[in-house]
Amino acid sequence: MKLISRYTMMLLALVVLLTTVAPVASAAGTTGNSGSKKLVLGTSADFAPYEFHKVIDGKDQIVGFDISIAKEIAADLGAELVIEDMGFDGLLPALQSGRVDMVISGMTPTDDRRQSIDFSDTYYKSKQVIMIRNADKDKYPTMADLENEKIGVQKGSIQETIGQGIPGAKLTALDKISDIVLQLQTNRVNAAIVEDTVAAGYLDDVIGLAPAIPDEEQAEAAIGIRKGNTELLNAVNGTLERLKSENKIDQLVTEASQLMADKVKKDQNIFQVFWEYKSFYATGVGYTLLLSALGVIFGVIIGLIICLLRLHDVSILRWIGTAYVEVIRGTPMLVQLMIIYYGLALTFGITFSPLQAGIITLSINSGAYLAEIFRAGIQGVDRGQLEAARSLGMGRGAAMRFIVLPQAFKAVLPAIGNEFVTIIKESSIISVIGMVDIMYQASVVKNITYQGMNPFLIAAAIYFVLTFILSKLLGRLERKLSASDRR
Ligand code: ARG
Repeated sequence: MKLISRYTMMLLALVVLLTTVAPVASAAGTTGNSGSKKLVLGTSADFAPYEFHKVIDGKDQIVGFDISIAKEIAADLGAELVIEDMGFDGLLPALQSGRVDMVISGMTPTDDRRQSIDFSDTYYKSKQVIMIRNADKDKYPTMADLENEKIGVQKGSIQETIGQGIPGAKLTALDKISDIVLQLQTNRVNAAIVEDTVAAGYLDDVIGLAPAIPDEEQAEAAIGIRKGNTELLNAVNGTLERLKSENKIDQLVTEASQLMADKVKKDQNIFQVFWEYKSFYATGVGYTLLLSALGVIFGVIIGLIICLLRLHDVSILRWIGTAYVEVIRGTPMLVQLMIIYYGLALTFGITFSPLQAGIITLSINSGAYLAEIFRAGIQGVDRGQLEAARSLGMGRGAAMRFIVLPQAFKAVLPAIGNEFVTIIKESSIISVIGMVDIMYQASVVKNITYQGMNPFLIAAAIYFVLTFILSKLLGRLERKLSASDRR
């Protein structure tokens, strides 16, 4: 028992250390623009020519006139610009929780939004337009023809509100404009509401879309700033004023539109897609491996602690261990991720980066499964082994360490291997909060190429290679360990 409680204490201390250190570490890299000289921009880079992904010199970059404006603001502040790309409806919470300092995303300063954030002066105006497939060119001459129709809109945008006002319309609200375009191309929706500046990028034969019913309704764009951050608000307005007086904004729009014009590469086969975007996938592999490796390490630590708790003599500790396993195992990892990433930030101000939130979620989650595996292993070793060791004069600790645990470990190695493989695959869930892993990069490639299949087939192949290598390595370890049995 002494051994168990000593380890329990050590591991508990480690956990306490980790949980206190992690938020501090993230606080050190905060987004506060005073002092650290970093200006964090939140944007939804699916909105060419405002902001979009483009491969320049083989590297994925976020460009567009919103981004150029952000760079001007950062330059005026003498700060370094950091861009956080996320779903459009995640921008307001990100700004409020302090994850980003400002939002430039073609965002219209509506009264609703003004309740929760402040806006700069407006810097651009556009109009609403309905996009339809070329084949349907003459089908929807007026807004009234859209009644009862299937319409795609961006989640959280003013277009969603407009769509909700159309009687009987069946709305599909999605994160990214490119997803809506895919829906339109694949006949899942028959119209999409977007802004004319953005629609311009899709209106060609490659995509096969046509504009219809230009609406007179205006959509202005302004920069979102956290309420009360007047210092930044004034600086932003100052920069906008300078740009307007230099006629620079029109120039930036023209430049961005030119960049946008050659953004689509059609008809690439899977090998061409892979070759052109290999650097994207390479980055993704790096993050997936980092995420999984740390998830495994901390997962094992947590698993050991929980396993020790579950086997403890003190019933309250046993109860805590059981509760942990049941709760974590009984709730989806996606929900856990949302709580750790958004919940903690909005409720307690504990702001984790996507990488940190990912590691924490994966560790907590796999810890529960690993704890059960460890417990099964230890309990699977015949009691007689322990008793024999004790009767030979071994202490309980030594008996555990030299007799029980090695046998337990060998017995559950295949199950542990399964769990590691699962962690690599499940880490793809973390991509929803903008963690740049393989899955995330596959979506980026999909958004750039408008291909729905190849980017994900490539991702599948990469995941398969990773997990296959891992299970080969584990198989080898297993054989090595069982070799000693046959001696
Ligand atoms: N102007 C619209 C709005 O504020 C749409 C903006 C969408 N922006 C984007 N980056 N996707 O709701």
